[in-house]
Amino acid sequence: MCSKVTKDQALEIIGKYEKVLAIINKYGKAKEQLLSILLDIQCASGENYVAEEWAEVVACQLDLPISKVHDVLTFYAMFNIKPHGKYVIEICKSTPCHVTKADAVVKMFEEVLGIKLGETTPDNLFTLMHTSCVGACDIGPVAKIGDEVYGNLTAAKVAEVVTSYRGVSSCQK
Ligand code: FES
Repeated sequence: MCSKVTKDQALEIIGKYEKVLAIINKYGKAKEQLLSILLDIQCASGENYVAEEWAEVVACQLDLPISKVHDVLTFYAMFNIKPHGKYVIEICKSTPCHVTKADAVVKMFEEVLGIKLGETTPDNLFTLMHTSCVGACDIGPVAKIGDEVYGNLTAAKVAEVVTSYRGVSSCQK
């Protein structure tokens, strides 16, 4: 039976494979560079995640067990194993933020982004998610994007935060 992969899809897969190999080679296939390699692959994916097939390529090229690569991908919060927007907006839902109206903040982001919690914008720029306490309870309600924490959120501040990330070209790390 014929494969269902079209020529264009095959070329795309080859292109991604070459990109992943180039990243691994850039770090000299060094095992101790595993985090940097995975971060670069995630950044280059266009969907802010490390796909299983690329995790396998990394394991093979670095001569590591795949379980080691999986451990790193699941241990560090900065890694995604499913497609995400370039920026993941995490809204704290722990009790202190909850009582300061975190639910209203979720609605504000949903309105500005035009998506629901758990979804990604069609341009792959933002994913909206819940998180637990990020240690900034005194400025709740709180949202975290990468390493940045935004507190005392109001509708105006939410719109301002979203606008500040539009047109930023660097990858979230
Ligand atoms: S409960 Fe939200 S930051 Fe601590």
